[in-house]
Amino acid sequence: MSDWVHAMQIPLILIADDNEAEREALAKILKKENYRVIDAADGEGALEIIRREPVDLLLTDLRMPRLDGNTLFRAGKTIRPEMEVILMTAYGTVDVAVSAMKGGAYDFLTKPFKKIELVKRIRNALEKRALQIENKRLSEEIHHLRKSERLIGKSPAFRHVLDRVDQAAPSGATVLLTGESGTGKELIADLIHRMSIRKDSALVKINCAALPDTLLESELFGHEKGAFTGALSQKPGRFELAHGGTLFLDEIAEMAPRLQAKLLRVLQIGEFERVGGVKTLRADVRIIAATNRDLKEAVSKGDLREDLFYRLNVINIHLPPLRERREDIPLLANYFAAAYREKEKKEIRGISADTMNLLCSHSWPGNVRELENVIERAVVLSRGEFISAEDLPRELAGVAGLQKEADSLVFSVGTSLGEIEQKVIEETLRKTGGNRELAAKVLGISTRTLYRRVPS
Ligand SMILES: Nc1ncnc2c1ncn2[C@@H]1O[C@H](COP(=O)(O)OP(=O)(O)OP(=O)(O)O)[C@@H](O)[C@H]1O
Ligand SMILES: [Mg+2]
Repeated sequence: MSDWVHAMQIPLILIADDNEAEREALAKILKKENYRVIDAADGEGALEIIRREPVDLLLTDLRMPRLDGNTLFRAGKTIRPEMEVILMTAYGTVDVAVSAMKGGAYDFLTKPFKKIELVKRIRNALEKRALQIENKRLSEEIHHLRKSERLIGKSPAFRHVLDRVDQAAPSGATVLLTGESGTGKELIADLIHRMSIRKDSALVKINCAALPDTLLESELFGHEKGAFTGALSQKPGRFELAHGGTLFLDEIAEMAPRLQAKLLRVLQIGEFERVGGVKTLRADVRIIAATNRDLKEAVSKGDLREDLFYRLNVINIHLPPLRERREDIPLLANYFAAAYREKEKKEIRGISADTMNLLCSHSWPGNVRELENVIERAVVLSRGEFISAEDLPRELAGVAGLQKEADSLVFSVGTSLGEIEQKVIEETLRKTGGNRELAAKVLGISTRTLYRRVPS
């Protein structure tokens, strides 16, 4: 079984050529590169193999008996649309090449070609194919996920969050969501509400940091007519509006202490009064609170009442930062790319492998929101089939972006190599903001060599 799985992953290349010596030479080269190789002496035979075997790449001669290369590969493509094709001919003309490429061939080699050239072209073709297959798989996976929830993530850390949601949602208990900015706290609050028995009642949201405290008080608890200047009529508060449903209190640590006391009372006995009112009202409201601050610290600094903290912290769900669940980055990135492609009506097929690597190695201080913004921007900027490193903001594009942006230096003929070297190193260091590792990478030398040239 394990052998079989392994064999499935090694690309299978079909060589079609009527010249036996050439066929054998090609097969030898490719086998040495660890590919699996099959060969056929004419077009018909090759087509028969394509029908039978999962051919990943067809390397075919143009002039062959029974079926020429052009007809063969077009027929082959209808059988295996994902098969890559490289055509070879001794009579290479631009016309033939262009028409072959239009018909879906990946590449064109004019005989005689160098072994190294062949190997390189084959590798490129297979890489492109692997990328396409991976993108297709991810977009299917995303489609599947999207059908169930709008929440993307399959890392153990994220699954743990979803498990906690499963447990907490139906219970009706107060939930405290913690986690850095942009980790998805609001999204989880939505999910908890939708999974609860209150799902058919309102989910009312309020951001405690967005309003000055007198306004926040009347927003939360409502006010009576004439309660304060400008209170022209009676107004129900969010607690009343959320009756029977859920109230989401965002940025809870920013609430003024006086209001915290009032909130505590609602949580303890379910009662409150409107601002300027005497009538005691009852609230049947489930509370979900969120904060991106460290609440223990907010308590010890006196910003958050300790008794309120314990009331809110019945069930704590912590959203891990993106850098601690990097497995989710490709999924999220593809999800956002697909979403913004639709919105921007762009013909983008995916994210290139290099770019995905850059995305996966970034630290994402702004978490999922930052990733979403970066992808949106990239989709807007992108001009190619695949989102590339150039479409990323400079701090993310790293080495790739740097080489593109590099300023040039001018030397007069006769400048000593030592001097040129020194200057190039200095300028590169300046460009990288003094980052020696990055500078060494760009220059293609080891960090040690760099240190020797420019002692710190
Ligand atoms: N797992 C996820 N799947 C899909 N989209 C996500 C996910 N997590 C977050 N997002 C998206 O990232 C953005 C930020 O999420 P959200 O507003 O829930 O973060 P937050 O934790 O409330 O941030 P803040 O503390 O800054 O308010 C939103 O656009 C949200 O849709
Ligand atoms: Mg939020």
